[in-house]
Amino acid sequence: MSQVSIIGSGNVGANTAFFIAETGIEDVLLFDIQEGLAAGKALDMMEAAPIRRYRNRLRAASSLEQIAGSEVVVLAAGRVRRPGMKREDLLADSMRLVCELAPEVARLAPEAVVIVATEPVDPVVRRFVRLSGLPRGRVLGIGGCLDATRLRQAIARELGVSTENVSALVIGRHSDSMLVLPRCCSVSGVPLPQLLSIERIEALVRQTVEAGDLIVQMAQRSSAYYAPSAAAADLVNAVHMDLGRVLCVSLLLEGEYGLRDVALSLPAVIGKAGARRVLTPRLSDAELEALRRSARE
Ligand code: 2OP
Repeated sequence: MSQVSIIGSGNVGANTAFFIAETGIEDVLLFDIQEGLAAGKALDMMEAAPIRRYRNRLRAASSLEQIAGSEVVVLAAGRVRRPGMKREDLLADSMRLVCELAPEVARLAPEAVVIVATEPVDPVVRRFVRLSGLPRGRVLGIGGCLDATRLRQAIARELGVSTENVSALVIGRHSDSMLVLPRCCSVSGVPLPQLLSIERIEALVRQTVEAGDLIVQMAQRSSAYYAPSAAAADLVNAVHMDLGRVLCVSLLLEGEYGLRDVALSLPAVIGKAGARRVLTPRLSDAELEALRRSARE
């Protein structure tokens, strides 16, 4: 069985491991700088296996060296947001982490696809690519996947339909300036603007933009982690299964929409080698301007 390594065993790291275990496809190695945390979480999850019926192994690494040769590395390390903090408030700490970890991940697992869940995800992706030297298609942030699952849930609830039938596209930065494209959202192929008024769509878009902040405010002691972990595990699965799924990921732009040297979410074809191809849906002048403004943030 191939291995996925998760750096950071807090809520996002541990839940990503758990979701991967439940799909039953890969062994998971958990690492954390806090001694004992990864080992405790791995043991706890293995003790759930007889009931939850997963057969893959969840182990803890005592040193980062053990991620060597991983097929996928998930970066889930970093501080947790407290009420009143924006994702950007984590920037300095996360950048310090990336400076340490990116060259090490590239040295130890040069063939890996790296999934970034550490916030703020877009600048972390950009810096990771620069410092690791990995191709941009192999460093993917969860931003667009997370925003899309939130919007899908909001649309499904509003219309009283199954989330499976809802697809949604949210591009740009994983921040207040994310760009929802309602005409690219649909319910079993029926475009959203044919099903809901502009006012209702705007309300759902607002919910999606504010979801991360709202959860920090409500939960007080933690930021969101179930949906972020689900997004990370889904990306791991898409890489491992090499199915060519189209998922919206944060990646370093190389000229898409005239933008370079910035990471934003765009839909991409995901497989073993990471993002094989980036899709660039046609944007109106106003949307293009919004995307460019978001890139300049
Ligand atoms: C969010 O909840 C984790 O910041 C991330 O949007």
